[in-house]
Amino acid sequence: MKLTENQVTDQNLYLNRRQFVKSLTAAGLLGTPFIANALDFSKNPDYQPRLKLTDPEHALHYNNFYELGTSKEDPFRNADKLNTDNWKVVIEGECSKPTTFDMDDLLKLEQEERIYRFRCVEGWSMVVPWIGFPLAKLLKQVQPTSKAKFVEFVSIEDSNLPGQRFRILDWPYREGLRMDEAMHPLTLMATGIYGEALPNQNGAPIRLVVPWKYGFKSSKSIVKIRLVEKQPFSSWMVATPSEYGFYSNVNPNVSHPRWSQAKERPLGSFFKQKTLMFNGYENEVAGLYKGMDLKKYF
Ligand code: MTE
Repeated sequence: MKLTENQVTDQNLYLNRRQFVKSLTAAGLLGTPFIANALDFSKNPDYQPRLKLTDPEHALHYNNFYELGTSKEDPFRNADKLNTDNWKVVIEGECSKPTTFDMDDLLKLEQEERIYRFRCVEGWSMVVPWIGFPLAKLLKQVQPTSKAKFVEFVSIEDSNLPGQRFRILDWPYREGLRMDEAMHPLTLMATGIYGEALPNQNGAPIRLVVPWKYGFKSSKSIVKIRLVEKQPFSSWMVATPSEYGFYSNVNPNVSHPRWSQAKERPLGSFFKQKTLMFNGYENEVAGLYKGMDLKKYF
């Protein structure tokens, strides 16, 4: 196979980075290993804000993952009920090249670490280093057609998942984004957290992370991504349409029908802090919603 100049350069950079990381690791200069659980990644300097990271003790043990149970400790306790062997992600619908990817394919895409704020609609928040790649990179590979206006995400459905024995939600867990939101550079497909592959309770082996939206938009353990013409329904919109809208952008000025969204409690902290518009990503994403009434499109 003949490599183009571009490919040669990319390959060289890739090898250099690996060698650099290996030499640092060998010299014991890295506090946290860059290569862990077969994840090879680099820190993206554009996404390393000076924010205090949440203690992994909290982020990895206080979770929402209703397929594994509804209490915060259930996802960790029942983590072994999620089988991630031979995981595949099907991308289909309005695209010229529908493709089924396995995890090897997805981990061949360059993996980078990004530190993001994360705000749950329930009023808690965290700051965590995710590892992954922009969703846009993946979607470009399947060549969306002009009819692809929205993207639907479908999570795993499996009778071994204890939460799916009950109809607490309309299974499988479904979420959606508008095409421009999905293609936004902040929108990440995460394969890892805190330097390691995602643990099951955080949505292994691959999940979405949309940092300017409430956490429930960030679907875990995704098996299907569908490019569609019409706005899809999410599981939460079906469950409680008066409380959960399609957009669900973090907005301290629009209350949840049952509580205020003006403040949040960082996991591990006793004190609350002010919630930021679009969770602090206003400069990057406000333009996506120009002219839209954010009280109406909540
Ligand atoms: N994805 C699936 N498949 N099932 C879920 O129950 N919960 C959502 C989101 N993704 C959920 C999900 C909610 S409400 C939140 S706040 C985040 O996952 C929590 O992510 P974390 O446990 O990694 O903090």
